[in-house]
Amino acid sequence: MMTISFDSVGLSFGAQRLFDSLHATLPSGQITVVTGQNGSGKSTFLQLAAKFIAPDTGKVVAAEDGSILQKDAFRSRLAMVTPEWNLYARLTAEENLRFFLGLRGMELSAEEIRVLWERVELKWEDTRIPLAGKLSTGMRQRVKLAVLLAVEADVWILDEPCANLDASGWEIVLRAARQAASEGRLILWATNDPREEAAADAVIHLPWN
Ligand SMILES: Nc1ncnc2c1ncn2[C@@H]1O[C@H](COP(=O)(O)OP(=O)(O)OP(=O)(O)O)[C@@H](O)[C@H]1O
Ligand SMILES: [Mg+2]
Repeated sequence: MMTISFDSVGLSFGAQRLFDSLHATLPSGQITVVTGQNGSGKSTFLQLAAKFIAPDTGKVVAAEDGSILQKDAFRSRLAMVTPEWNLYARLTAEENLRFFLGLRGMELSAEEIRVLWERVELKWEDTRIPLAGKLSTGMRQRVKLAVLLAVEADVWILDEPCANLDASGWEIVLRAARQAASEGRLILWATNDPREEAAADAVIHLPWN
């Protein structure tokens, strides 16, 4: 059992007080959605949860079975999908997949890769022939999802993972997140979409100040 806890977290950017005394506990085994308007702080909340940034006051603590996980140990357990992460435009989808998994010391067999493309419903030829820069936005998003699925991380931090996806892509993400939660993973998901909010086990509404 893993948890990410926000304990009296405060954070400002200049004069803008984004969070004040924010308390929240995100447990594994469920999908926690963070909602709020543009600029309300969803992506910042995710960065705090991933420990990419530190709060001004209070703390964010990751723990497993009651023991605190230090930053490096925690980082090695998480995978993120964010709009800021771009594929290399001059590599194919498959080269991107192999590259990003290689950074984690992972090497997949041709069969494992074929299964992944099937899971995200990308045609094999689209992953091998065109450069990623020539793929549609939704297809590129599916490549990022394939990396996420391959990593099998215990903590999934998803920033608007369904952006640019069609109905079938939306189903893939929802199904994968639901299955991951049932396997005991911790899913944190930022979105503005009421349908995704409805699919969550817990919802944190921003702003929080
Ligand atoms: N590094 C930063 N420096 C200064 N201000 C920042 C920084 N990061 C975010 N902000 C500000 O904090 C506020 C929240 O930004 P954030 O990206 O977390 O919102 P969001 O809810 O994810 O919005 P969106 O729905 O558009 O993705 C915004 O006003 C933004 O300008
Ligand atoms: Mg955002």
